Amino acid sequence: MTLSLGETGLDLTSKIILVTGGGSGIGLELTRQLVALGNTVIVCGRDAEKLAEAARLTGAQAIAGNVTVADDQERILSDIQAQHGRLDLLINNAGIFLAYDFKNDPDTLQKIEREIAINATAPLTLTRRALPLLEKSAQPGVLFIGSGVAFVASPGTPIYSGTKALIHHCAQTLRHQLQPHGITVLEAMPPVVDTDMASVLKSDNFKKMKPADLVRDILEGLRRNQTEMLLGQSRQIKWMSRIAPAFLFRQFAKTEFH
Ligand SMILES: NC(=O)c1ccc[n+]([C@@H]2O[C@H](COP(=O)([O-])OP(=O)(O)OC[C@H]3O[C@@H](n4cnc5c(N)ncnc54)[C@H](OP(=O)(O)O)[C@@H]3O)[C@@H](O)[C@H]2O)c1
Repeated sequence: MTLSLGETGLDLTSKIILVTGGGSGIGLELTRQLVALGNTVIVCGRDAEKLAEAARLTGAQAIAGNVTVADDQERILSDIQAQHGRLDLLINNAGIFLAYDFKNDPDTLQKIEREIAINATAPLTLTRRALPLLEKSAQPGVLFIGSGVAFVASPGTPIYSGTKALIHHCAQTLRHQLQPHGITVLEAMPPVVDTDMASVLKSDNFKKMKPADLVRDILEGLRRNQTEMLLGQSRQIKWMSRIAPAFLFRQFAKTEFH
């Protein structure tokens, strides 16, 4: 019988796990902790050198590739098929965060397409392409790394919060559609985390969570089969978005960037 995470929560040992964007930040910390638990972790990212270093540091396997490129997605998955024959957990983590002036930035058109491609389209197309490999697992799961800004529009980053809102909706629809196939869909919503991505935020605006603490909470959420992991201040953001949305939006509109 196929066990879904819905019945048991995830046993985080001896799993085959793909972490997109596993070469740095949250993805690197996820990789470090998951390898330490005895899982086989495959990391992908565009910068082959950075990825090889991450693999050397953590004991993960590296497959360089751009998640927005269909051929790269196919190649990454066929390498996993050839080496491991199955995928137990796909962690859609790779992302970018672009702060700019929608009207005056000379690269706005290119930035809109790039951010939607990486943050929104790629996790969904990769998930669809990975289904045959996930179905070979006894306990398959997909984890989307979303964000607390799925619940509030963040004016300084005109497209980013929209991509996370889209992923939040799609995580729910895919959870519903894939559950009958034994595939559990989970979502982790970090607050601001102390990685390269958050370095564009002026530090006194937000308290940044440490990646190691965040990942410890995510792994606990996976063990408990928490479908929507509201991490750190994301819990407050979600509830504020319900009871005082205009106030919350004004607070986010004050965010300053380097
Ligand atoms: N840091 C925060 O405050 C925060 C808060 C909430 C949610 N998040 C989310 O958490 C996730 C990880 O963020 P982070 O803070 O760890 O960012 P990060 O340190 O900038 O790492 C992002 C990773 O994604 C990879 N990546 C980017 N574009 C890619 C592409 N097209 N194909 C393959 N890999 C790609 C990058 O590697 P290459 O450049 O080598 O490709 C990098 O390793 C993102 O989805 C982000 O939106 C972050």
